[in-house]
Amino acid sequence: MAKEYQIAVIPGDGTGPEVVREGLKVVKAASEKTGFRYRTIHYDFGGDRYLKTGETLPDSALEELKGMDAIYLGAVGHPEVKTGILEQGLLLKLRFGLDQYINLRPVKLYPGVWTPLKDKGPEDIDFVVVRENTEGLYVGVGGFLKKGTGDEVAVQEMINTRKGVERCVRYAFEYARKRNKKRQVTLCDKANVLIFAHDLWRRTFKEVGEEYPDIKKDCALVDATCMWMVKNPEWFDVIVTCNMFGDIITDLGAMIQGGMGVAAGANINPQGVSMFEPIHGSAPKYTGKNVINPLAAICAAGMMLEHLGEEKGAKLVDEAITTLLSSGRIKDLSTKSGLKTYEIGDMVVRNMGGS
Ligand code: IPM
Ligand code: MN
Repeated sequence: MAKEYQIAVIPGDGTGPEVVREGLKVVKAASEKTGFRYRTIHYDFGGDRYLKTGETLPDSALEELKGMDAIYLGAVGHPEVKTGILEQGLLLKLRFGLDQYINLRPVKLYPGVWTPLKDKGPEDIDFVVVRENTEGLYVGVGGFLKKGTGDEVAVQEMINTRKGVERCVRYAFEYARKRNKKRQVTLCDKANVLIFAHDLWRRTFKEVGEEYPDIKKDCALVDATCMWMVKNPEWFDVIVTCNMFGDIITDLGAMIQGGMGVAAGANINPQGVSMFEPIHGSAPKYTGKNVINPLAAICAAGMMLEHLGEEKGAKLVDEAITTLLSSGRIKDLSTKSGLKTYEIGDMVVRNMGGS
């Protein structure tokens, strides 16, 4: 009998549960149409549980998650929880604890979707950001000196290891090969200022790159990358970058692909368990209103299917989204689309062909 995937579901805070519900509808439809089996295991981690119990993500749960085939996450962030607690204690603990060292974020403009970039279309905006996901400025190494005084010092270290950089860069080269479009990897850094940290990135990029003679390579400073993402997004194929820059440029990427309503990402541990999530936050003010567009979460579910090896299912999801957007049946990706969250999920399911 075919394997049954164990999928952990963490709906999280705010509108997270609403969009996850739609993503799961789509997973169910894909399983019915293409014949794979799966089981979902729900976890109530997030702001509400933290406020009740003081717990973000217990170590025992992290261990349990290591046995799953994938994790599907909604959103993390609660207005009554001090900033940083859930980010550190839940989201980053998952990424770090499960060694999900790649954050893969496609920037793809679907046909029919409005972009703020004048004269650019789907053929121009189609690249992928490979963001390092376990190191850099995110590791939380640092401290205060003389906190609260006029002489206060705050230090936050940026950690870059050869191993961490190498596995990330290698992933990017492999991905460019597999993607087989421009077959090009751009290293986005700030080597002119971060003369130690990003010197390591440049050297590693060059050395590992020698193993990939079939892939074109170039380096772009992060400020210039932002400029070109707006002016000439068609120059990019795969961008590889450190954790912090990846965070920033993928929000810019989300805007040029039509907004947070459609931007998804995967936190990948190629040897372990990976986690799939929309890039948007929990948007608490819309909680329960059913106006949030679930397409980003649905795209994340599609990425999860692809990662599990369910390419047929992933394709059905992508084709349904493409049909709905290019035909103008979903005209607007914001909360003002006039469509309810569950209506969009139902539309995607109805447009999934196959069977
Ligand atoms: C993201 C988010 C997170 C990040 C936050 C919530 C910690 O902005 O997934 O991009 O900075 O990685
Ligand atoms: Mn971010």
